Amino acid sequence: MKYKRKNYFVDGVKSSILAKKFSTPLYCYSYKKIRDNINDLKKNFNNLNPLICFAVKANPNKSLLSEIGKLGLGADVVSMGELMKAIKAGIKPDKIVFSGVGKTNIEIDYAIKNKILLINAESKSEILEIEKIAKNKRRKVDIGIRLNPNTDAKTLSQISTGKKENKFGVSEDTFLDLVSYVNKSKNLNLKCLSVHIGSQILDIKPYQKTLKILDKIIKKTKYNFEYIDLGGGMGINYKKGGKKLNLKKYAEDIIKFKKKYNSKIIFEPGRSIIGSAGILISKVIYIKEGGKKSFIILDAAMNDLMRPALYNAKHQIIPLIKNNSKSKKKYEFVGPICETTDKFLSTKNFQVLKEKDLVIICDVGAYGMSLSSNYNLRPKPTEILIKNSQIKIISKRQNLKDLM
Ligand code: LLP
Repeated sequence: MKYKRKNYFVDGVKSSILAKKFSTPLYCYSYKKIRDNINDLKKNFNNLNPLICFAVKANPNKSLLSEIGKLGLGADVVSMGELMKAIKAGIKPDKIVFSGVGKTNIEIDYAIKNKILLINAESKSEILEIEKIAKNKRRKVDIGIRLNPNTDAKTLSQISTGKKENKFGVSEDTFLDLVSYVNKSKNLNLKCLSVHIGSQILDIKPYQKTLKILDKIIKKTKYNFEYIDLGGGMGINYKKGGKKLNLKKYAEDIIKFKKKYNSKIIFEPGRSIIGSAGILISKVIYIKEGGKKSFIILDAAMNDLMRPALYNAKHQIIPLIKNNSKSKKKYEFVGPICETTDKFLSTKNFQVLKEKDLVIICDVGAYGMSLSSNYNLRPKPTEILIKNSQIKIISKRQNLKDLM
């Protein structure tokens, strides 16, 4: 995904051709980037031989899931819909883990029926519900228990999950009680200790702290967990030259930890696999002069990409075709939706744009399309995947008729 002279290319395909052929706004993914991201994780975690389960919530497109599955990954799901989709995409149930604080009996039943690897339970009530369903089915079901390690992931408060005030997992005391409860159950098989402390984590310290806490609690339980599920959360660079998570060091710390317990490690990455592999191509509808800045009114909006409005997240915006203009302008990129937060980015030094020009919003592969909506009754955009220079439509633009 780069410029060749003035034009931006995705896996060998000129992106201006894509915009023309499929219209805008358009989500476009690079297979090569997905594969590179997966290989990067595999390389860093090579000595751990982990099971890597893609967090489907980051992007549940079936074609993408299928490609990710073929590259050897399992899936982390949080709803029946995600579980169904992962199975439909060809991911084997014995590589699927199910997280989430509010699994309903229907969802639990479906997970048990499909013999998935683990249901990671997040409360005593949920464990009782799984036990009841398992008993009715005369089954012994493999479960994990999610611990809330009370660790600050040092990320945005809205995507932090590992502090005691967050709804996720159970406290250390409850965890210890639940281990002995499940141990005595005829219908539950305790296999896993799971944690997930948050998303977009760039600082290794919260991960290191979590490992220490796990170490302490496993010693207390004296239980031999077949799996330790360390969740996802590995952050990516949304800014050129920004801070990077030291994955190599994280892997070394886990190796030290694993030596003591010899459990199989599970990861649940979403963003680090698909985030940088997606772009959103958008067209300038109008340019409106507004005092010291100009508003660039795009045809993409917060319904297509919610992260800036929801978390004040910054996604870089670049021109689809670079021009030779030396003069730069101060722009505010906004969408057409009737909300002040429908704003993507303010930039100081952008090449001079004109109406109908195309721009690229970068790193939108994770939590882009998956958080999209029909707000203002706008159809969801087309998604395409480029693989070996071949273009495949992986989700068609919604039809206005469907929304009526
Ligand atoms: N495992 C569990 C249990 C999770 O809750 C999550 C994300 C993941 C794995 C994957 O985390 P990742 O590797 O993608 O960081 N919408 C927000 C992110 C919410 C993440 C929720 N949980 C955003 O756009 O930044």
